[in-house]
Amino acid sequence: MLRRLFIVCMVCLFFASFACVTAPQEAEANPQEEQKTIVLGFSQLGSESAWRNGNSRSIQEAAERYGIQLMFKNALQKQENQIKAIRSFIAYQVDVIVFAPIVEDGWDNVLAEAKEAGIPVLLCDRYVNVKDESLFAGFIGSDFVEEGRRAAQFLLDRTRYFDAPVRIVELTGTPGSSPMQGRAEGFRELLANNPKYEIVQTISGDFLRSKGKEKMIELLRSVPNIDVLFSHNDSMTLGAIEAIEEAGLRPGKDIIIISVDGEQAAIDAIRAGKINCVVECTPLMGDRVMELAILLAMGQPIPRKTYNIERVFTEYDDLTLVGERGY
Ligand code: AHR
Repeated sequence: MLRRLFIVCMVCLFFASFACVTAPQEAEANPQEEQKTIVLGFSQLGSESAWRNGNSRSIQEAAERYGIQLMFKNALQKQENQIKAIRSFIAYQVDVIVFAPIVEDGWDNVLAEAKEAGIPVLLCDRYVNVKDESLFAGFIGSDFVEEGRRAAQFLLDRTRYFDAPVRIVELTGTPGSSPMQGRAEGFRELLANNPKYEIVQTISGDFLRSKGKEKMIELLRSVPNIDVLFSHNDSMTLGAIEAIEEAGLRPGKDIIIISVDGEQAAIDAIRAGKINCVVECTPLMGDRVMELAILLAMGQPIPRKTYNIERVFTEYDDLTLVGERGY
């Protein structure tokens, strides 16, 4: 109820100030004139995981709630499609561009074009690596380095009494993407200087369930005595669990499994004893994206970085208190 009230107030505030700031004479001359609707161009990177589909839904539903006209384009896992989508938003002269960059590099030119056209850009979920940071107005999403640290902290606690070496295999996300880089960095940061822990192999499963299974089969064949799987997302983890079970091993018992995201199926897998820990990374940020987009459309400043508030789910928690996840 409070949230609805907040949304209504935000939208009213927006319309009131937008009308004042941009077209005071017209507003006085013709009070009947229709209010301007914000047009937001959103480039989604693809639909590789339940997380991503949850994120797309969250954006689409929030745009409707806030009365924002959404131009939504799915890039189907291809950076060139994202660049094309952003160029089409510029040509259409949308009020704000929001996008979830598939990888960090390669955005300088298209973002310079958006800046030249005077269209503010908000990064959603993932970060970019550009020479000129003024090419985008801000970022909203998760702290991926912190997620990696949280995964490592659980590992350190869970294996405190294990004999050395603790042999870890790592299934990473898309190479060159911010979650892949950040999670790997944070995880290593806490294990550095602790020779008991060995990351014996790191392999990319591209955040896909099918590849998670395929790569886990390879790992089980090539790496002896795996103690721990650190998987960069739930989709790959669920695929890897299938591979582990087909190999006659018990996920969560013979191999400790640490995952990231917190989708419904992964929380259920903790309950079933097949995953030991899931570091939450929420895709449900649609409302905050709209709030930031409204500010940008009004020419207002926004914070450089807005982080989602997230937690860790473990086999030790009372998960009866965790409601429906929504992704
Ligand atoms: O960028 C967020 C990551 O991308 C999520 O962890 C993963 O599930 C998604 O595909």
